[in-house]
Amino acid sequence: MYDIKIKNLTKMFDDFTAVNRISLSVKRGELFGLLGPNGAGKTTTINMLSTLLAPTSGTAKVAGYDIINEKNQVRKSIGVVFQDPALDTKLTGRENLEFHAMMYNIKSNERKRRIKEVLELVELTEKADILVENYSGGMKRRLEIARGLVHKPKVLFLDEPTLGLDAQTRRHIWDYIKKLNKEEKVTIILTTHYMEEADYLCDRVGIIDHGRIVTLDSPDDLKDRLGGDIITLEMERVSNNFVNSVSKLKFVKSTNIHNKKLIIAVKHGEKRIPDLINMALKSKVKINSVNLHKPSLEDVFLHFTGKTIREEESSHADRFREFARRRIRR
Ligand SMILES: Nc1ncnc2c1ncn2[C@@H]1O[C@H](COP(=O)(O)OP(=O)(O)OP(=O)(O)O)[C@@H](O)[C@H]1O
Ligand SMILES: [Mg+2]
Repeated sequence: MYDIKIKNLTKMFDDFTAVNRISLSVKRGELFGLLGPNGAGKTTTINMLSTLLAPTSGTAKVAGYDIINEKNQVRKSIGVVFQDPALDTKLTGRENLEFHAMMYNIKSNERKRRIKEVLELVELTEKADILVENYSGGMKRRLEIARGLVHKPKVLFLDEPTLGLDAQTRRHIWDYIKKLNKEEKVTIILTTHYMEEADYLCDRVGIIDHGRIVTLDSPDDLKDRLGGDIITLEMERVSNNFVNSVSKLKFVKSTNIHNKKLIIAVKHGEKRIPDLINMALKSKVKINSVNLHKPSLEDVFLHFTGKTIREEESSHADRFREFARRRIRR
């Protein structure tokens, strides 16, 4: 049983393709993550799925309803926590929730009961009656999550739920997200560019880059695909001969060069280090440092895109600056 089915979903802004033929399905009750750098197309995807933005082409069904022909049913079935805060700070937390519940035509008794429930869920009962302008960043985010839940949506979209929050608050919010996925049985799609967030929270993760899903699986399976362990050899100088010979070794699953680092995916990495160092010595390649670790989603991202997520973000920022410069010149 799927709560989300996306087929070839595409969004173009003039001749720029922000989301490029995305296809994926999310099962009922699943906690699914779209992980990608700034500008990858995460918010644009969420906006299309929540019917705020019309796709250029492709289709999607959310909670069984078509996002183009059955907008109202989709809207009734979903909750959305936007990337940009959208609370009324001159109202109290409870008033924000009341207002939202009224928009969904929830009757007075049911409204009171439900607001009490969601406030408890995100542990804001005691702060419910103070103005939101006096909330901390983490409390505001928790209130937004509570608001997304008041009307008991089948599907909840969380666009960067912990963006800009400190590590401790982030952990707390992760716990709420897990809890409401389990206890309220809500299907959740979240977007993030935090590797640890996707890793910790999500049943499955789709890595999105330049509008495309480059790979999709459970965090563990994504990491396993890289082949057990990651050995990083930092070379004084990149030697193509050495890199070629390493990549031809039987026990090497894949290699990647990043700056002067040779990143090698292998099984039983600790046993392979001496062989690799010997090879480097024979090839007269000076090794400045050696590192062995279990693959992280960062390694997965690098493997599939050839860049780290931070580099992707800064190259996106460069493109954006260039775009802005050209606009100003016009
Ligand atoms: N209304 C718009 N008009 C033109 N370009 C847009 C518009 N909305 C988004 N874009 C572009 O589409 C691309 C994807 O943007 P989107 O906001 O979906 O990225 P994102 O993955 O959510 O990034 P972030 O992590 O920064 O939130 C970006 O290059 C962005 O500049
Ligand atoms: Mg975004």
